[in-house]
Amino acid sequence: MQKRIFSGIQPSGVLHLGNYLGAIKNWMELQDKYESIFCVVDLHAITVPQKPEELRQKTIEVAKIYLAAGINPEKSTIFVQSHIPEHTELAWILNTITKIPELERMTQFKDKSQEFRQHLNAGLFNYPILMAADILLYDTNLVPVGEDQLQHVEIARTLAKRFNTTFGKTFVIPEPFVVKEGMRIMGLDNPAQKMSKSASSKYNYIALTDSPEKIREKIKRAVTDSGKTIKYSDDQPAIKNLINIYALLDNAKPKDIEDAYHKKGYAEFKKDLAEVIVDFLKDFQLKYNDIDDKEVMSILQQGAEKLRPLAEKKMEEVKEKVGLI
Ligand code: AMP
Ligand code: TRP
Repeated sequence: MQKRIFSGIQPSGVLHLGNYLGAIKNWMELQDKYESIFCVVDLHAITVPQKPEELRQKTIEVAKIYLAAGINPEKSTIFVQSHIPEHTELAWILNTITKIPELERMTQFKDKSQEFRQHLNAGLFNYPILMAADILLYDTNLVPVGEDQLQHVEIARTLAKRFNTTFGKTFVIPEPFVVKEGMRIMGLDNPAQKMSKSASSKYNYIALTDSPEKIREKIKRAVTDSGKTIKYSDDQPAIKNLINIYALLDNAKPKDIEDAYHKKGYAEFKKDLAEVIVDFLKDFQLKYNDIDDKEVMSILQQGAEKLRPLAEKKMEEVKEKVGLI
């Protein structure tokens, strides 16, 4: 049987190059080899305050981004998390086998509970359990994500094993999938922190919707290291990050980029990098603008229809194992 992958992105904030290079680019490449399910995780997004109208818009937007990036709806299934109630139903049951200290250890929870101190809700705390439910509901083998989600995939593995030991074999144990160069794209204004949709400065990230002028300006202003040479090394984290972005978009190896620019200056490197990004995003944005919202809605509906029988079957099995009549 073909192995299955599952991944998702929250419809909140702006999607940026980190999301693309850390996650979506890999999905596109994996969809030929695996049966693929890509979710717009709206129920995760509401663990921090969202405006209803914006949430509706963003949900469609994220689905459009999947399509524009090359996810093929003929091959892969795209759907919205809240369209399949079994996600929350399974999450409830997994809640009852999750230990509170396991959730307290999550770095994303620690970070977000600082950031959203006024809105510290139980959903934010239980977030990794819903993510585990997303993954386990479909017997997922592989979960392609960025580095920041590895801890959550680990919890999904722990819960799958615990459930199987307690109630008998029910869930497949999922594996994470990351690509080293893209798993942690750093902020352009601060190479010590990951590129983030909630960054306070727009010079932190390149949004997938940025115009060519904005991209050129942001790359020009990107922080560089004190050294003068273009070297791919941990001693030069800012340049290393820019080389990673260049290499991933150019389908090259970081070493090739280093070799090509070793004898050149930062200015020339940055100028070329900006054009690589501009070219990539121009093409992406053309495709994005060409997609009709109605068509997206229909793809999302078909996606949910296709998955519903799988989710229902798994939930029946879970309920039966737990003793719910
Ligand atoms: P989120 O935007 O938090 O829903 O994340 C969506 C996907 O993008 C997840 O797989 C993240 O791990 C990935 N991701 C987010 N930020 C970055 C980054 N700076 N570098 C690499 N991957 C990222
Ligand atoms: N928590 C993930 C993020 O913020 C999104 C997500 C939700 C996800 N459910 C998932 C990713 C299942 C992979 C598999 O990036």
